[in-house]
Amino acid sequence: MKKILVTGGTGYIGSHTVVELLNSGREVVIIDNFANSKPEVLERIKKITNKDFKFYEIDYSNREDLEKVFEENEIDAVINFAGYKAVGESVQKPLEYYSNNISGCLVLLQTMKKYGCKKFIFSSSATVYGDPEVVPLTEDCKIGGTTNPYGNTKLFIEKILQDLYISDNSWDICILRYFNPVGAHESGLIGEEPQGIPNNLMPYIVRVASGELKELSVFGNDYDTHDGTGVRDYIHVVDLAKGHISALNKLDKEEKGIFVYNLGTGIGYSVLDIVNAFEKSTGKKVPYKITQRRPGDIAKAYSDAKKAKKELGWEAKKNLEDMCRDSWKYIENNL
Ligand code: UFG
Repeated sequence: MKKILVTGGTGYIGSHTVVELLNSGREVVIIDNFANSKPEVLERIKKITNKDFKFYEIDYSNREDLEKVFEENEIDAVINFAGYKAVGESVQKPLEYYSNNISGCLVLLQTMKKYGCKKFIFSSSATVYGDPEVVPLTEDCKIGGTTNPYGNTKLFIEKILQDLYISDNSWDICILRYFNPVGAHESGLIGEEPQGIPNNLMPYIVRVASGELKELSVFGNDYDTHDGTGVRDYIHVVDLAKGHISALNKLDKEEKGIFVYNLGTGIGYSVLDIVNAFEKSTGKKVPYKITQRRPGDIAKAYSDAKKAKKELGWEAKKNLEDMCRDSWKYIENNL
């Protein structure tokens, strides 16, 4: 059977997607250099699925190593999760971000082309919409206006993929724009493990709940939202992972093209909605204080998720309670 290559397959979204791929009967090859993940994840994926896969500890931007993977395996499609993802860090280390995210992706696409593999799924982000003029965000909304190197890399790669498809329409490309992934696998075996003090809301909340951090800073309560705090579209990582299986099924059909989908729930929750839901579903207290707005933050971003439902037959199934409970379960299991 032809295999699916997953770059960054031991990371947060990558590992959950590998689980869904294996569960759906696909053969998987993972490559990862553990830049932001741990080798234990490999065993945990096997434990969850009771299935095996091939693994290469390599950097996806190393052409020679990558070619070896294509030499040794018949790769049908590639899902690219390799890439740095911390907004703040990207401002401090722009060259590392541009090099790893963009040059790495170019090496990957060139290698795919060399080996005649032209099915590609790319992890993009709602960040490409910049500060939205309107919500909910449809895939046709204007993109651009990204405010940091991380966001720029997502935007540039989307443009590179559009140009690639124009030059050769035998490619089959799916760009998935993730909203805010949270939660963890229900087994509690894999989840999100940011290094150092987390920047994102849910990872911060779970560390306050565990007592590791004292209190949550809520970045501003004077936004134009129902309670003044920032509104986002939080999506359970298992739903998100399943979105990739639906995208792959679409690419398996004969029609070629370049397709763009939002992966979100279509529902916007505020920071305080999340704090309240977390306390209710876990019974843990999350002390917080209101502080200044965080530079670069926007008031509201949430998806119109109808296109993915119509064309991929995919929609998010898990609710906010599931997201909070599973985020906490992972931390409790791995304290
Ligand atoms: N927030 C706080 N306190 C915190 C952390 C976050 O109040 O300690 C607030 C933010 O101000 C925002 C909301 O919680 O209103 C969500 O913030 P996150 O940092 O969790 O997520 P963002 O929406 O800012 O960014 C995320 C990803 C980016 C991605 C973007 C796309 O981190 O990678 O979504 O929509 F680009």
